Amino acid sequence: MSIAKPSIMYAVLLLVFSIMGCKQNKKESQSEMETVTTESEQNPIEETAFGEMPDGTKVKKFTLKNNVGMEVDVITYGGIITRWTAPDKQGEFEDIVLGFENLDQYLDGNPYFGALIGRYGNRIAGGQFSLDGETYKLATNDGDNHLHGGEKGFDKVVWQGEAKNTSKGAVLELTYTSKDGEEGYPGKLDVKVTYTLTDNNELDIQYEAVTDKSTVVNLTQHSYFNLSGQLSEPVLDHKIYLNADTYLPVDQGLIPTGEFREVVGTPFDFTESKSIGEEIDAQNEQLGLGGGYDHCWVLNETEKDLGLAASAHHPETGRFLEVYTNEPGIQFYSGNFLDGTLPSKTGGTYVKRSGFCLETQHYPDSPNQPDFPSVRLNPAETYSSRTIFKLSTK
Ligand code: BGC
Repeated sequence: MSIAKPSIMYAVLLLVFSIMGCKQNKKESQSEMETVTTESEQNPIEETAFGEMPDGTKVKKFTLKNNVGMEVDVITYGGIITRWTAPDKQGEFEDIVLGFENLDQYLDGNPYFGALIGRYGNRIAGGQFSLDGETYKLATNDGDNHLHGGEKGFDKVVWQGEAKNTSKGAVLELTYTSKDGEEGYPGKLDVKVTYTLTDNNELDIQYEAVTDKSTVVNLTQHSYFNLSGQLSEPVLDHKIYLNADTYLPVDQGLIPTGEFREVVGTPFDFTESKSIGEEIDAQNEQLGLGGGYDHCWVLNETEKDLGLAASAHHPETGRFLEVYTNEPGIQFYSGNFLDGTLPSKTGGTYVKRSGFCLETQHYPDSPNQPDFPSVRLNPAETYSSRTIFKLSTK
């Protein structure tokens, strides 16, 4: 007993000091929060290993969290979003993006699930273009055409990742330097992509690039969404809205013909939201060529810099995705090439149309189409593009 007493007093003293210490810490972090950070500071960005490339390069995974429970996993290989959780109308969080469990599966053949796309989102006809009288020959990885940056586009390289908490939320900055001549493109291109997860359930993606020679650039993000959380189920019941009165019809190689065609009276009219399945199997030459929707819509001009381009709603779960961008186009791809051969994260396989993409971008094949907005980037200029994916329920 005589030994116990002092140790009890010691324990009480320790408790008092530690409570005082906690209070002190809390005060410091509160005042810090007031000045420079949001609540997101409470959610440290986790960094974990996600395997190794065949040459030994280590791949990291960063988990961005916000203060209302959303989590986004991004790996440094391809800047790929491998997991993205969002609440349904009952508040239940589920993963809403197609992807794989491990790096080997991504290396084995990834149909661009979740990936950053560059240097050029979508196709360039014949895998070539001219700039200032010089013809540049690119990798042809889609029949005769160049798709999504070539054999080893930005989706297949390892980026440098740096995570930080900021006043806007959890931030991951990814950087990559593409060498002069990589995949056939002129100029050394320094690229930075910043993912910011805010407490409003927005993933804000900012793209920047600078070059040392005139070149072309068109970056995008290739997440396949399935808002039902049942990732192996078709997305035909999702309702899509596209803020576009015209779209770009394509030829057999899915290259825009150059025509701007009105959507009114066609299955391509999403100016009033309608389900993906409603007209996808209609007799229509363009749907036949795409095997479904695989086209670029010409976004209507909005008054805002970041206008509402598109939305997607899954009525059963209530999950609602809005897409804001400063890009002139959006590729709506209904996952037509998925064929049930790849394993789904939620069991089963990724069947045809089990995910859809809303890829904000300049129009496909712009380097060869003088009537399309320019994708040229000159030295001393900065390429800059921004897209926000915002999730809510309704
Ligand atoms: C293209 C599709 C292509 C897919 C690859 C989309 O952006 O529009 O034609 O098959 O990417 O996953």
